[in-house]
Formats: sequence, C-alpha cells, structure tokens
Amino acid sequence: MAMATAGDLSQPFAWPDAGVTRIPYRLYDDPEIYALEQRRIFRGPVWNYLCLDIEIPEPGDFKTTTVGEVPVIVARDLDGQVHAMVNRCSHKGALVCLRERGNARQLTCVYHSWTFDLQGRLKGIAFRNGTNGQGGMPAGFDPDQHRLEPLRVDTFCGLIFGTFAEEMPAIEAYLGQAMAQFVRRNLDRPLKLLGSHSQVIHNNWKLYAENVRDSYHATLLHTFYTTFKINRLDMDGGIVLADDGWHHISYAKRATFEEDPEYRQSKVHAVQYDSKLAGPRLLDAWEEFDDGITHSIQTVFPNLAIQFTLNSLAVRFFAPRGVEQTELFWFYLGCRDDDDEQTRMRVMQGNLTGAAGLVSLEDGCINEFVQRGVRGSGDQLGLAEMGGREVASSEGSRATEAAIRGFWDGYRRIMGFA
Ligand SMILES: [Fe+2]
Repeated sequence: MAMATAGDLSQPFAWPDAGVTRIPYRLYDDPEIYALEQRRIFRGPVWNYLCLDIEIPEPGDFKTTTVGEVPVIVARDLDGQVHAMVNRCSHKGALVCLRERGNARQLTCVYHSWTFDLQGRLKGIAFRNGTNGQGGMPAGFDPDQHRLEPLRVDTFCGLIFGTFAEEMPAIEAYLGQAMAQFVRRNLDRPLKLLGSHSQVIHNNWKLYAENVRDSYHATLLHTFYTTFKINRLDMDGGIVLADDGWHHISYAKRATFEEDPEYRQSKVHAVQYDSKLAGPRLLDAWEEFDDGITHSIQTVFPNLAIQFTLNSLAVRFFAPRGVEQTELFWFYLGCRDDDDEQTRMRVMQGNLTGAAGLVSLEDGCINEFVQRGVRGSGDQLGLAEMGGREVASSEGSRATEAAIRGFWDGYRRIMGFA
C-alpha cells in the first residue's frame, strides 16, 4: 500500500497501489474525509455550479444555494452584475437570506437587522450609534471590513459558477476545450426553464458523481432505455474525458443504431424486445442537432451534470447534505424559440428522469444500495477496471469505467491522496 496521508485524519488514509482501479469504501462513509472534502474540494480549486443565469434575470433577483454545505447567495445587483457570497451574517453568523429566491434591493439579517447590498457589502447596522448617546458600536468600527464572504463568479453558456480559490483560471479554461465545446452545443442558445424539482437520495455525494459517469450501468440498470432503444451500449458512442480527467462526456447515436446480434443473445438482462408503449407519444422527438448524438451526459467536477436525451435537456446538480445524504436538483430546459409542440415533447420526455421517472428513479435507489452494501467494510475496495486501467477517452465504446477513474484521479489529487 502506498501511504498518502491527508494530515488531517486521525486514521491515516492509504490509496491502494492499484490506483484508481480500486476505490476504498471508506471514502463513502468516513465523517473525517467528508469534512476534509468540504475544505479541500468545495472551498478548494474548483468551479462550483451555483445556478442558471435565467433563474436571476432581473436586477435585484437572488437565489440561495450551497457550495458543499456552505450556504451561498447568488444575486444580480442593480447594475446587472452577478455576485455570490456566503449566506452568513458577518455579525453572528445567521443566515441572511431565508428564501430560496426573490427580488430585493438589499439583504437584511432578521436577527439584528444588519443590512447588506447585493454585492454583500455591509451597509447598515441597527443602533450603530446606540441610544441616548450610550451604547452602540465603537467609533473605529469599519463596516468595510465586515462584508459577507465573497466567492469569485464566472458564467459560461448561462451556467453561473463560483469559487473560493484565489488562483483559478476562467471557467472555460477549467472545462478545457472539448468540454467547453460540448456545453456550448447544448446550452449556447436562448434558454427557458420548463421546471425543476429536487429529491434527497440516501448516499454519499460521490456515489452520484460515479453514477453519472458510469456509462456501463446505464443500459443494464435502466431497462427502459434498452427496451425502447433510447440508449444502448451497442449504439455508436463513446466517452470523452477532459484533459485532466475531471469532467467527461458520454454520448450515443440512436439514428445509426444497428443491433449487435451478440447483444440479443447475451441475455445480460431480461429485455422485453417486443414491448410497446401504450402511450408512444412519450418518446416523440425531433432531431435537434446534425451531429447524430441523441443521448449525452456531461459532468463537470465536482457535482454538476448536463443531460441531453432525445430532446430532454436538463441540468442536474447534486449537493452533499451529510456523509450519507445528497440532494439532487433537476432543472429542465427548453429553448425560448421552441414552438408549442417542441415544448410539449421536451416536457413529456422529462418523465424519463427524476425521482418518479421511468428511467432515473433506479439511480436514487442503486446508490443507496451501495451505501448500505459497503457498511462495515471500510477497509475493502470497489473495482473500476472495465475498459482498462487508464484514465483516457474511449471513443469506440462505452463499456468502460474510464470516466469513473477520471473522477477518482482528480479527487485523489485535490484531496492530497495521490
Ligand atoms: Fe443511471
């Protein structure tokens, strides 16, 4: 075993010599590692997804979210600039903003009525001069030293990101050329929000980070995909990793699909090949791009995914809510110039995903099965050798765990476990 101690752990952590083809189960349920992730990853050198630009279109609009477990406010100031700051009053630490979204000219903490502008600057202190010439803040108190803690903000294709790290390249450079180009393909157009929901899943956040990178499972666990030929492992497709392996794209082309005869004989699952949908309009779709890609999942490290299946375009964001709990948010998107029929198709296809969806309900369940399965086995290891042992793109096949290895490679480095 190569020792790679974190320094902050009472039990030293050692990554196995086999590298990212082995995943220590301890990573899913150790509270000290979870606490270290909050500092090294979410407060570290990453761009964290905050919200969609179209969620705060007007001056004064704000939205609250979290970066790791840190509560954050994203606000558009009266000049139209977007700012992000920790939702923690600089006085006693209370949440300043209690609503999920809204519009305001200033933000006031309910505890002692300290007031902040939409950039997070401290603008008002109740009873600053006391009463009747007595009490109040000392004369030398400087409000400029007590703003809400800021995050740096950057926006790309309508996605707003924030970081606590001082030295970070712009979000486009963080994504790298291939990833940025594919985000543009899906999102660089006037968008509208069709709806959103969230669900709490009972697993460590990294199990979902693996799950969205796990192209191997998609057509085995999700039999709806296979049965109705939306996404199958024997379709043309591949995996593209970012240069550093942190982010990925998995894609498939339904239009050029020719069934591999071995697939039908392989009996990998009980496919109901001749099943018909009672409501076939569920899968009504149109060809939206000329690259032939009809299904794609793209991840951005640490906790963002962009999904495009048929015409269902969605942003998924999964936020840690404790060692064994994650909140998964779905934002379903359409284009502003979609006609009514196109909007209907996108909304209908939204039924494939989500907590009660026809496809992705299984993910919420399977991640919990892993969480439960590894209980009491912190010294044991998971496997990720499908498709080889390398962290590299796989243009020919999605029967690979390359993207999972890429995630762990990035994770190890950022956590100091490499
Ligand atoms: Fe899945």
